[in-house]
Amino acid sequence: MPKARVLIVDDDTNLLDSMRRQFATKYDLVTAQGGEEALEIMAASEPFSVLVSDLKMPGMDGVQLLSRAAELFPDTIRILLTGFADLQNAMDAVNRGFIFRFLNKPCPLASLEQALADALRQHGLVDIQRENYSLKRFKRLLEGIVHGFSALVEARDPYLAGHQARVTDLALAIARELGLAPDELEILRIAALLHDIGKVYVPADFLNRPGVLREEEFSVIKMHPEVGYDILKNLGEDWPVATIIRQHHERMDGTGYPLGLAGDDIVPGARIIAVADVVDAMCSHRPYRPSLGIAAALQEIEQGSGLCYERPAVEACLRLFREKGYELPTIAGNVS
Ligand SMILES: [Fe+2]
Repeated sequence: MPKARVLIVDDDTNLLDSMRRQFATKYDLVTAQGGEEALEIMAASEPFSVLVSDLKMPGMDGVQLLSRAAELFPDTIRILLTGFADLQNAMDAVNRGFIFRFLNKPCPLASLEQALADALRQHGLVDIQRENYSLKRFKRLLEGIVHGFSALVEARDPYLAGHQARVTDLALAIARELGLAPDELEILRIAALLHDIGKVYVPADFLNRPGVLREEEFSVIKMHPEVGYDILKNLGEDWPVATIIRQHHERMDGTGYPLGLAGDDIVPGARIIAVADVVDAMCSHRPYRPSLGIAAALQEIEQGSGLCYERPAVEACLRLFREKGYELPTIAGNVS
């Protein structure tokens, strides 16, 4: 691990020599004899974790240096060394936020060492805060992309409008009933929001046409789980979203598509989405039929429980609707 970078500024060269002797092995230590020189060094080199400055120096004094450094290098933690006579100056600097800590001169090396350790801990916290902020921004970006893709496929098929969001809501409710862990819920949420993304490959008139589809048209529609897998497979193994999408039309008894997988060969997320998907699909209007209603949808999964649909997922779904007052959300779609 690289040593923390520390800049110490003082016009007393003897004091700088003593600090170099004391700290050179512990820190990546740089010294400067005045404020102007310190700012030049900071501008020209890698960022410093901590800046320690004497108060009284010819030219730019310590408060001026640290206030300037606070503007130019806000992530560097600042410490002021001051005599008792300058206490008011030092307190003002603390109160104005220029410095993390001030130390009285002459300062025992042990006190300075402790202050440096505290400052480095503070610098670590600033780093963590920055990382958290970046992560939050990245998460918002990812969220926007996922919802954008979800809207993209639904825009081509008015009968799909709101379907993926409603399936997501129900699939998450089922998953919570089943006690899935937060990480699994997050993966399931993304997979459910995008589960029909492969329908971008299906010609729009196949999707919107009333009447029964011809065999070859249906075989094109049946490719959408595989196409969805191809679109998202590069997300990697940490995010098995693509696998869930590939398997959301598989059935527990092996009668599904595209691979005809059965039982435990189907990932749990896909088994849950399969149940939520069929419930929302039966409750939605289709070009070739009106909504069949929630009673028929629940009857369908009940009859298929343990056969084509996973029994615990079905039982959780029935409990939600029949005992817990769950209703499919009304999201810009066609739930009756
Ligand atoms: Fe689908």
